[in-house]
Amino acid sequence: MSDWQNDGLKTPRHFLKEDDLTSDQFRQIIYSAIALKAGWKAGEVRQTLQNRTLAMIFEKASTRTRCSFEAGMNQLGGHAINLSPSDSQLGRGEPITDTARVLSEMVDVAMLRTHSHSTIEAFAGVSSIPVINGLSDKLHPCQMLADMQTVFEIKGDIKGAQVAWLGAGNNVCNSLINTAKLLDFQLVIACPENFQPDQSYVSHATNNVTLTEDPAAAAEGADVIVTDVWTSMGEEAENAERVKALTPFQVNSSLMKLADKEAIFLHCLPAHRGEEVSAEVIDGPQSAVWQEAGNRLHAQKALLEFLLGLPAAS
Ligand code: CP
Ligand code: NVA
Repeated sequence: MSDWQNDGLKTPRHFLKEDDLTSDQFRQIIYSAIALKAGWKAGEVRQTLQNRTLAMIFEKASTRTRCSFEAGMNQLGGHAINLSPSDSQLGRGEPITDTARVLSEMVDVAMLRTHSHSTIEAFAGVSSIPVINGLSDKLHPCQMLADMQTVFEIKGDIKGAQVAWLGAGNNVCNSLINTAKLLDFQLVIACPENFQPDQSYVSHATNNVTLTEDPAAAAEGADVIVTDVWTSMGEEAENAERVKALTPFQVNSSLMKLADKEAIFLHCLPAHRGEEVSAEVIDGPQSAVWQEAGNRLHAQKALLEFLLGLPAAS
């Protein structure tokens, strides 16, 4: 019996933030994701989610998150339903908690991408099925599973590694802070003073996280360099101010030269070439962004099996 079949699942397991998982559970999901990827590539048929349904609620746009969850459910024999506010009763004012109670009667697991993190928390607060955060204004935990899978695949592990974040202290950066604490790596965040990550996450991870306004200091000797768009969904009104403040934090080849020779570049995508990253870096030999994007599929299959209390793939 795997160590995650431990509580009979009397209460649903949620994944709203990285530390809803223990460090061991996070690692186990990465190992399972790697096994699921190998199995899928070898043509193995795995039907662990037969007759299971995932409901996905997207308040914001998505390419990767939607396709990876939908394809992942299909690959495991299940089905996914996409709901957007414009084509569901959510757009006509049905409360999110009523929606959670209704979906709990019909489907097995729910994934939400919302403007406000509190919407996902409200849904999870009354849900009797597992709830997954598919990105909020505060966090993007599914991205962390795929990012860490990518680092494990390329470098073996991340414990003790030096990771540099360049750019805005946004939802993905907050998630990386939580992950640094959980998997015990050193994260140096280079960002302008007025675009720092949420202090509540930083203050919980002081042994693992350092803030600087010097991009070169963050990149020096790093094993992994990470960035994201300067303007996240919902922040469009601040775009001009952000571009001005964040331009010195672009990941380009001079910055990559300061990192370790074997350093890899990660970006959750979508990317803006010429803003947060130069084309030569994202399209260059140190970039692992396509592997990273592809790993969303396998990491989330492992997550779904875990949340539904199924045995871990190995
Ligand atoms: N990285 C990511 O979540 O991409 P999408 O916005 O396309 O889902
Ligand atoms: N920080 C970005 C990530 C997109 C996947 C945003 O929230 O728009």
